[in-house]
Amino acid sequence: MAFRVLVLMLLSSLLAHGIGSGMAQSVGPAITHDPCLDLTEYQYEPSPELPLGRRSFPKGFVFASATAAYQIEGAANQYCRGPSIWDRFAHEFPERIADGSNGDVALDHYHRLEEDIIRMKFMNLDAYRFSISWTRIIPYGKIQTGVNEQGIKFYHDLLDLLEKHGLEPYVTIWHWDTPQALEAEYGGFLSRNIVKDFEDYCDLLFKEYGHRIKKWITLNEPMVHVMRGYDEGLHAPGRCSVWANRACVAGDSATEPYIVTHNLLLAHAAAYRLYEKKYKAEQQGAIGITVVTFWFIPYNPDDTADVDSVQRSLDFNYGWYLDPLTYGRYPRNMVDLVGSRLPTFTEEESLMLKNTYDFIGLNYYTTYYSKNNTEFDPVHLRYTLDSRAINTPEKDGAYIGEPMGSFWQFLYPDGLRLLLEYTKETYGDHDIYITENGMGTQEDPKQTLAEARADTMRVNFYNAHLASIRQAMIEKDVKVRGFFAWSYADNYEWNDGYSVRFGLNYVNYTDLSRHPKHSACWYTNFCRRDPPREDNNLKMITAGPASAAGGRKTLLRRPAAYAN
Ligand SMILES: *[C@@H]1O[C@H](CO)[C@@H](O)[C@H](O)[C@H]1NC(C)=O
Ligand SMILES: *[C@@H]1O[C@H](CO)[C@@H](O)[C@H](O)[C@H]1NC(C)=O
Repeated sequence: MAFRVLVLMLLSSLLAHGIGSGMAQSVGPAITHDPCLDLTEYQYEPSPELPLGRRSFPKGFVFASATAAYQIEGAANQYCRGPSIWDRFAHEFPERIADGSNGDVALDHYHRLEEDIIRMKFMNLDAYRFSISWTRIIPYGKIQTGVNEQGIKFYHDLLDLLEKHGLEPYVTIWHWDTPQALEAEYGGFLSRNIVKDFEDYCDLLFKEYGHRIKKWITLNEPMVHVMRGYDEGLHAPGRCSVWANRACVAGDSATEPYIVTHNLLLAHAAAYRLYEKKYKAEQQGAIGITVVTFWFIPYNPDDTADVDSVQRSLDFNYGWYLDPLTYGRYPRNMVDLVGSRLPTFTEEESLMLKNTYDFIGLNYYTTYYSKNNTEFDPVHLRYTLDSRAINTPEKDGAYIGEPMGSFWQFLYPDGLRLLLEYTKETYGDHDIYITENGMGTQEDPKQTLAEARADTMRVNFYNAHLASIRQAMIEKDVKVRGFFAWSYADNYEWNDGYSVRFGLNYVNYTDLSRHPKHSACWYTNFCRRDPPREDNNLKMITAGPASAAGGRKTLLRRPAAYAN
């Protein structure tokens, strides 16, 4: 391959990147049987109100779990991987991470590939959504500066293991980890230059892996990256207006979120068109994007100002991406309210953007109230205020649903059904994968391992959200094709560090051992391909805030057939 040159680096960075440390050594225990069989305190009792297994869903529906490179891989400074904006942010501003941590080691997934994939196999999963680290493949971001053979091989090793154990890869190309070299050179996604570099990176991935990967996700949650990274300054690259967050060294919350989104959209479209033109006929794969939004309900349903604000909340969080990628233009509300700060597409760009996904990847976590912002301040402009809508989880001293471990998340499963129905109505009848859904719990150092694993609340969370999905499929014929639980295991939760645990599997960060939580064993059972007949007595729950917040108690007992 013409570009296949060894990465040229200065001696100092050679040392820093550990050249000479050889190939990855596999560590971690050999997993030879379903680890849930050792979880003796685990009990499972099917509850008649809930979907009880994969047979409650159409044949071929994909059940899986998801991760992202920086959150799990570790080996951040090894095997010639270059730094991303997340390496730089976590190292330069540890005080902006809840526990001052970084992803240098994370779950050391890099060295525990086989253990992790075998655990997923024993969970009866059909697929695995992971992301490729751009700087493991192209350490300095631009293909002309070199391709890292060790990085290329790492993902082939991962794909080999998935093939061996019968899991289908769903691959995210960019999960927030923009190469730091491109950030330094031209401001990363603040510059349109990134479109070409991203396209080159995608070209390399399609050429190298396209015969093995049939489901591509260009970008993960661009809205969250932009909001946290350029409006609030909470995520890498940590930019925002100083009045919005004093920790921000540079940035402009009024303009940069729009510029970055514009370039992310163009980068996505470039990747889609490249695949369409050069690879699709032969490789027969599908390309989508993963978007996220909270669902919104009016703060006061009797106040038309609040009812109207719901649409603005959805447009600013969701339509911001799906309108351009479906219709080639930004939502009308954004054009009106953001004015000249909103970049515009040329006619040619608009055509290039239109209809650039084969499926929608949808991440859902929670629902908020939306309320007309009657005290809009035209002097302090920023993206999160431009919608003139206040998004809040609180009303009359009560939360919209039971609080979860992340400060922003509350239990509201019915929002997923409503979001699925809205998506079909607004953007058409596309294939949809729930590419993330899950809940975090706060790290509690006083908890024993047994206590940390007894996560009944997470079992209820998944049950309720799967019921909500199923309801959208039955009642409105929404074409949901798969469900990816976030996450396979506890991992590096960005600026929450390791203090919030989203995993089905518990990770001990001292010795990096993995242990299935009750939710992992519940999911293992849910995903069985041969569930006992009596498991299938499904009735729909009438989902809603009341049933959701009620904290339904499900006693868990392992069914007799499961013990065999
Ligand atoms: C919503 O708030 C804005 C101020 O931001 C105000 O001008 C507008 O009249 C309000 N809408 C309604 C319907 O009350
Ligand atoms: C984590 O691992 C360390 C070292 O093996 C051990 O001492 C500790 O008890 C473990 N923590 C939990 C919660 O199991």
